Amino acid sequence: MTVYMGIWKIFTNKLLRSNKILSILILLCLIITLLIILLINVQGCDCNSVGGSLLSQSTLHDQHELCLIIPFRDRFDELLIFLMHMKVFLERQNIVYNVYVVNQVDSYRFNRGSLINVGFLYIQENTHCDFIAMHDVDLIPINPRLNYSYPGDAIMHIAAPDLHPKYHYKTFLGGILMMKNEHFQTVNGLSNKYWGWGLEDDELYVRIKEARIRIERPENVGSGIDNTFR
Ligand SMILES: *[C@@H]1O[C@H](CO)[C@@H](O)[C@H](O)[C@H]1NC(C)=O
Repeated sequence: MTVYMGIWKIFTNKLLRSNKILSILILLCLIITLLIILLINVQGCDCNSVGGSLLSQSTLHDQHELCLIIPFRDRFDELLIFLMHMKVFLERQNIVYNVYVVNQVDSYRFNRGSLINVGFLYIQENTHCDFIAMHDVDLIPINPRLNYSYPGDAIMHIAAPDLHPKYHYKTFLGGILMMKNEHFQTVNGLSNKYWGWGLEDDELYVRIKEARIRIERPENVGSGIDNTFR
């Protein structure tokens, strides 16, 4: 069977690449502004302090960048609420992020694994993201201590069994799972064979164990199954 799906890029906190003319205009404005700042800078001021902030602007693209991959169908109202919430939540943590919604448009049962795989292939080609979070749209993080920053050598299971409102078994790995791109490639993504809700993440657990990648979960966040997600 073939899964028919579409990918929507909802918003990004970087320049919009889709509107090239607008991007170029914004870029031009930025360059001119930078030149003016530089000019003022050179003409006598405390160059060390201002120079520092200039440097941190120009090295912005060296930062880690997160792509949220949202497997999706038929929940537009939930998506809106999710997006509005995540914008505030992630910007508070200074995360550079993009949101990709992968929409299954056929009438077969939901294939979460395929949707995430397609999302990953897409962001690999079209973004600078170096880590991803596969993210259920109906799981909204409300504890600000849930950390969405680059997980390094571990895979970070944010929707841990002792935090997720519904699933509490030890090997549960669904909901929200964050990893660097290399790890997704190492485990070869998720299985495409699971139609209907569930099980693809249990199979992913086995893949991760076999690849001997460490799984971490949020520690000491001070909340539980009732008050970590909404
Ligand atoms: C998340 O973890 C990073 C790295 O350990 C740290 O710098 C950052 O402050 C943490 N953010 C939050 C919101 O706890």
